[in-house]
Amino acid sequence: MDQKSVLVTGGAGYIGSHTVIELLNANYSVVIIDNLCNSSYEAVRRIEKITGKSVTFYKVDLLDKKAMVEVFKRHPNIGSVIHFAGLKAVGESTKIPLDYYHNNITGTVLLLQAMKENNVKDIIFSSSATVYGDPPIIPIPETCPTGATNPYGRTKHYIENMIRDLCTAEPDWNAGLLRYFNPAGAHPSGILGENPLGIPNNLMPFLAQVAIGRREYLSVFGNDFPTKDGTPIRDYINVVDLAKGHIAALEKLREKPGCVEYNLGTGKGKTVLEMVAAFSKAVGRDLPYKIVGRRAGDVTNLTANPAKANEELKWKAEVSIEESCASLWNWQSKNPNGLEDCPGDAPPESIICYI
Ligand code: NAD
Ligand code: UFG
Repeated sequence: MDQKSVLVTGGAGYIGSHTVIELLNANYSVVIIDNLCNSSYEAVRRIEKITGKSVTFYKVDLLDKKAMVEVFKRHPNIGSVIHFAGLKAVGESTKIPLDYYHNNITGTVLLLQAMKENNVKDIIFSSSATVYGDPPIIPIPETCPTGATNPYGRTKHYIENMIRDLCTAEPDWNAGLLRYFNPAGAHPSGILGENPLGIPNNLMPFLAQVAIGRREYLSVFGNDFPTKDGTPIRDYINVVDLAKGHIAALEKLREKPGCVEYNLGTGKGKTVLEMVAAFSKAVGRDLPYKIVGRRAGDVTNLTANPAKANEELKWKAEVSIEESCASLWNWQSKNPNGLEDCPGDAPPESIICYI
């Protein structure tokens, strides 16, 4: 079987699209499935523009098992899956938990069944630092106790356990559970980056929209945390570094390691106000912010101990916070409205395949 073809679910999204570029650069061939609920086929066009290579893209939903099985049948050289597709807004997940459980958990069960029926048993899964809840150890090692504090986080925690159970029951499966810390930045080309629909939930895309004039000011959620400036600490990892971590994890699966967990982070924490200062510097002026009350569920510190990934994957985050801020501003200033599709531009058949 040709291990060089990878099925990427959610490959039109923020982290998925950057990972597809790194896969193509590493000479993998790529088939994407995405239902475009939080992305645009324009991302696929831009992936092709950046790499000069083509990608097969199916507008398929994880919940449509028949369509997923058909994708595997049409592409018998798929040897592994990188599974990004999922809903990811913490606040929204507390309001519509069943939608999150159905989309993320049922969707993953159906994907794993479709993989099994087609004898594809290597998977990389997008997990999250959120599985550590409010961790007792900083920086956080993979051995830290897990248990999430919101429905979104619980979907990640349950899916991790489900995949672990599968690998135990059927030892020919191999899985990399990648716990991402906070992705930041954009592609250095300036034509691909995060494209949040509606009001951004996350710090960096919100700040970028303040800088471009789409939002008046940033609300900083609390300055009474036990940190040097009172704002929470996160581990901001450049999205291209994060994407490269997937290539390293895919290589690791060739060693048939069973189910393995890795923190993908830098090991260096920054407060919210430090990130505001770093991004303001990249933009060249102070960005307005107001301190408001805490956001429910925010914890004080999520900083990775990435030693296991550094050693076992021979991967290390290399891009600085300053470079991430510069690439984010480059992307946002060149694409003030993100990846807007051209009005009236019908999805081109050359990009989207239908089942
Ligand atoms: P994103 O929303 O940009 O990408 C997710 C993609 O999945 C989107 O293109 C969306 O259209 C697609 N999708 C969702 N449900 C689908 C379904 N049922 N069928 C087919 N496609 C579907 O998000 P992202 O930031 O690129 O995150 C990718 C993954 O990484 C997610 O699983 C997310 O939970 C996880 N993660 C993200 C972060 C973060 O801060 N961005 C942190 C930790 C983990
Ligand atoms: N923040 C603000 N104002 C905003 C947005 C965020 O002050 O408008 C603060 C938050 O309170 C937090 C920090 O900026 O202290 C980072 O918040 P984000 O929403 O950007 O990121 P989170 O750490 O809350 O969560 C993100 C993803 C999760 C993932 C987690 C991993 O949304 O899916 O990173 O650490 F699990």
